[in-house]
Amino acid sequence: MSPGILLTTRVGDKINSMVIGWGTLGMVWERPIFVAYVRDCRYTKEMLDNCHEFTVNVPTGPFDKRILGICGGKSGREMDKIALSGLTLVEPEVISTPGFKEFPLTLECKVLYDQEQEASRLGMDIRRSFYTIEKGDHTAYYGQVVSSYIIEN
Ligand SMILES: Cc1cc2nc3c(=O)[nH]c(=O)nc-3n(C[C@H](O)[C@H](O)[C@H](O)COP(=O)(O)O)c2cc1C
Repeated sequence: MSPGILLTTRVGDKINSMVIGWGTLGMVWERPIFVAYVRDCRYTKEMLDNCHEFTVNVPTGPFDKRILGICGGKSGREMDKIALSGLTLVEPEVISTPGFKEFPLTLECKVLYDQEQEASRLGMDIRRSFYTIEKGDHTAYYGQVVSSYIIEN
């Protein structure tokens, strides 16, 4: 996956995006599913546990790379990252979380299932690299893709 992908959540008026590098797209339970892996400390986890839906936002051409610094390096707990990034909201088709003009390829996902990863079941090489006490664990969110499209610019 390219490092330019966003995962966006919305709770009431609050909209927040974070950069994701991990994610899988495939079929589970005879449904198209996007699985996102979100660390426990992320504001996005709080948002997902409240709204149970998200959009995945993928660029299809050049975009302002400062967006990645903001959405991948700062927390929505402390600021409005969408406003700071200058992202243009686009109304969703099925869920209530928007997409962005600047990241046109959009997956609208409803969370069907989430599972906290058990780092103790992984080999030591992966645990040492990814699961120190400071970093915390991941929760896997299985989102059913209920709509997918490319926003026309
Ligand atoms: C290239 C890149 C990929 C990332 N991938 C993930 C990921 O898959 N899962 C995750 O929990 N955090 C990932 N992050 C970190 C979050 O984007 C970052 O901590 C963000 O500030 C969290 O925002 P939030 O607190 O508003 O949710 C990634 C960051 C970058 C720069």
